[in-house]
Parts: sequence; structure tokens; C-alpha cells
Amino acid sequence: MNRFKLIAGAIAVSGLSLAFAPKPVATNSVGSNDKIELPDNIKAIVEAKCMGCHKPDARNEKAREKLQWVKVPEMNLEEQEDFVAEMFEVIEEGEMPPERTVERRPEMKLTAEENAAFIAWLEKEEKRLKGE
Ligand code: HEC
Repeated sequence: MNRFKLIAGAIAVSGLSLAFAPKPVATNSVGSNDKIELPDNIKAIVEAKCMGCHKPDARNEKAREKLQWVKVPEMNLEEQEDFVAEMFEVIEEGEMPPERTVERRPEMKLTAEENAAFIAWLEKEEKRLKGE
């Protein structure tokens, strides 16, 4: 086989493999069945530092009305978008748990690590919602 044939063969083979390469999948289609998932590390933080006020039988009516963690896995896409946006706000601003609570019980404040874990999780959910 001469040099030319070798090169031509190599081009033909690489052309062939390109033709059979999987087509990129359209990514901007968020399925309506897609739900928010709480990974274990986030679940643990929520249980320890958020759930007390945001559960169905919580004493604080306002907190109960504003956010119910038990409903998060059932949210439709619109609710998920609102949830993620709101959650970004309170976590980035350090608004939750409320200041009054943290003053009385400093151990309720999210640690820097917990904060970072929360943000990483929210960024992941945001990407999924944007279809990225
Ligand atoms: C000590 C009780 C308490 C704890 C603990 C608590 N919250 Fe809240 N949360 C509230 C109250 C009260 C409101 C309503 C605030 C308002 O409307 O002024 C609220 C509102 C919210 C809202 C809605 C904000 C808005 O602007 O409507 C989000 C989101 C939220 N909390 C997230 C969290 C997260 C995340 C945690 C845990 C890191 C947490 N909360 C822990 C009492 C609590």
C-alpha cells in the first residue's frame, strides 16, 4: 500500500465514524415529570436548620405558608422556578434561618460549608430547569 492510499483510507475511516457519531441531544427540553431532588447532604441541613418552621404543623403560620419542604418534590415546573429563585435569595442574603432565631441559637446559622453546598445544589437545579 502506498502512502497516498494509507492517508485516503484513514480519512475514509474517520469520515465514517463521524457519520455514525451520536447526534447531540436537544438539551432545552425540561420534562414536566422532572422534579426537584434533595440530595442527602441538603436533606440533612434542611432537617436540622429549616424544617422546624417550614413543616405542616409548625407553630409559625407565616413560615408554614411561605414554604413547605414536604411539597417540594411535587412542585410543577413553574413552582420549581419560583422555589429556586426564592431559595437563592434567602441563602445568598443569609436571611434564613431568621436573624432573631440565629441570635438566640447561633448553632442554627448555616456554616460556610453548608451555605456553599446549598448554592451548589441550587445551581444544579437551576441548570436543569434551564435545560442546560
Ligand atoms: C425559626 C423559624 C425558621 C427557620 C428555622 C427557617 N425559616 Fe424560613 N421563614 C421563616 C419565616 C417566619 C418566614 C416568613 C418571613 C416573612 O414573610 O417575613 C420564612 C420564609 C422563608 C422563605 C420565603 C421567603 C420569602 O421572601 O417569601 C424561604 C425561601 C425560607 N424561609 C427558607 C428557609 C430555609 C432555606 C431555611 C433553612 C436554612 C429556613 N427557611 C429556616 C421562619 C424560619
